[in-house]
Formats: sequence, structure tokens, C-alpha cells
Amino acid sequence: MKEKIEQIRLLAEEELNKVQTIQELEQVRIKYLGKKGELTAVLRGMGNLSAEERPLVGKIANEVREAIEVMLENSIQIVKGREKDARLAKETIDVTMPGVKMEIGHKHPLTVALDEVKDIFLGMGFKIAEGPEIDTVYHNFDALNAPKNHPSRDLSDTFYITEDILLRTQTSPVQVRTMQANTPPIKIISPGRCFRCDTPDASHSPMFHQIEGLVVDKGITMADLKGTLDLFAKQLFGIGTKTKFRPHHFPFTEPSAEVDVSCFKCQGAGCQLCKGSGWIEILGCGMVHPNVLKECNIDPEIYSGFAFGMGLDRITILKYGIDDIRLFFENDMRFIHQF
Ligand code: DAH
Repeated sequence: MKEKIEQIRLLAEEELNKVQTIQELEQVRIKYLGKKGELTAVLRGMGNLSAEERPLVGKIANEVREAIEVMLENSIQIVKGREKDARLAKETIDVTMPGVKMEIGHKHPLTVALDEVKDIFLGMGFKIAEGPEIDTVYHNFDALNAPKNHPSRDLSDTFYITEDILLRTQTSPVQVRTMQANTPPIKIISPGRCFRCDTPDASHSPMFHQIEGLVVDKGITMADLKGTLDLFAKQLFGIGTKTKFRPHHFPFTEPSAEVDVSCFKCQGAGCQLCKGSGWIEILGCGMVHPNVLKECNIDPEIYSGFAFGMGLDRITILKYGIDDIRLFFENDMRFIHQF
């Protein structure tokens, strides 16, 4: 029996010397030391030994078990070391290889133009207000004095989510939200996305951008409106720019106007950009309607205000001579990198 146990030790040693992987090591461990392993089988047969022999064989068996355990532990270290060396050899970096070129990003032209517009108004003391793109019919239409039968309320013009919730068609609802949450003086601009059911073409997109403006305080007059927007136009399009206020109608302002700027390409002489008229329309504006002030708990006998709204996409198109609004939303880097 002693010889058998010694032989097990030699065989285990021989096999461990050949082992390449941790999995193989585990198999050797099970084969010799496991419950159904060779050494265990020998120990089970010890019942047949005489009382003198038993402790002697038991001692040898334990020594062999310990020896195999030590050999196993050594082999684990050797195999692990070998695996690590192989991994490191594979991970070697060739510092002479050329690197991967990172594409550097670029501000979108709408962001470039918006930053410029924001800078101008921040310089005049305006703050930036934000409002939700998904808004209520109340904020988008009712509180803005839009009559129930106003064409823009039509199901075919506006993206309704429910009867009372829609994708805002304009940034004007931010006027209502700002006035309801603050007391005058108020002086904000609010840029953001708007949505209308338009089929995309060179000048229409169902998603577009507006910049809203609102000033409410005691004694605000149309002179403040004209002075503010005239200064804005001069800063954005050039100091020689002239402005023209044409009477118009918006439900939430009275009186209302549309503003044209003298064409910054031909200085008013008439060219392709201004379609020969010398003027380019850039925004709508007016004095905040008393009904809107009242709806926002501001007393129109004490306070007055002006508001304006401009299309950022249109302004950017004019500024950079872009001929198709869809280019803004295609994310073609060859286009975006030009601005
Ligand atoms: N919300 C208007 C539109 O989408 C633009 C506008 C006109 C906004 C006059 C105003 C304003 O604040 O006073 O056509």
C-alpha cells in the first residue's frame, strides 16, 4: 500500500509538470485529491490493514496529500505567471505607430448665431428664460389672447398630444410663464424649439427655433420697443442697418408690428437676397396686450410692456447666405464646419 501511495505522488508530479492552464490544474486536483480521487480511494481501503500498519500508512498518505497540495500551489503560480507574461507580450504598445485621429467638433451655425443674439441682449440687461417644448393649449394660445377660432389652433397646423397639450408653436408661451412666476420689472429673452405641421422644403421645417423677448415695467412705451430692436439690428447686421416697423396683427400685442431691416447685402439698393425690395423681414413685435397682462395678474393700469419674437433659423440663413433650412438638421459635418 505504501508503494501505491508513493506511486500516486510520482504520477501527480509528472502530470502537474505537463499542465498548461488553470483548468487543467483543477482536473489534476480532482483526479488525485477529489472525493472520488485516487488518494481518497486508497485511504478508504485502509480498513483492511492491521492495527499496526494503519497509523503508518495514514501518516504517509497525509504526507503525500500535503506534498501534492504544495505542488499544486506551485503549479498555479507558474501557470498564472506564464499567462500574465503572454498577456503582457500581447499588450505591448508600439509607440512608433501613428495615432488615431480625433475629429474635432464645431459649433452648429444655429448655435453660433444664437450665441451672438444672446450676447447682444445680455449686454442690454436681458436675462435668459426657459420654457417647455411640450406645453398646454392654455399657455400656447388661450393665455396669449388667441381667439378660439384662430387658424393656427387648427389640428392640421399644430401637433396636439391631447386636447389640452401640444408641441408649442411659438416661444410666446414663455411670456405667460415668466409673467405668472415673477413680478415686474421683467426683461427676458427665451430661445428654444418650436413645432408646426409643415412639410419640409427649402424654407419650412416642422421643427424650428425662435427667440422670444419680453420687457414689462412701469412706463414702457413703443419708443423702448423701437430703440431696443433698432440697436439689436445694428449690432447683429452692422451699424449702418436701418429698421422699419410695419403695422401688423398678433393676438397678444396691441399695437403690433413686423420689423424689416435694410438689406445688409446691398445696403438697401435691392438685390437677390432682399428680392429687390431693399428690406428684409426679421421679426414680429408689439406692446403686450392688456388682456395678456391681466391673465398674468399684472395690472395694465400700472404696468406696460413690449414683446418680440424672431425666427433663429431665418436669421442664421440670412446672415450666412444659406439656401436651404433642411441643411441645419442633416448633421453633415462638411456643412457645419463652414461656419
Ligand atoms: N409668436 C409669433 C409667431 O410665432 C411671433 C411674435 C410676434 C412674438 C409678436 C411676439 C410678438 O412676442 O410680440 O409668429
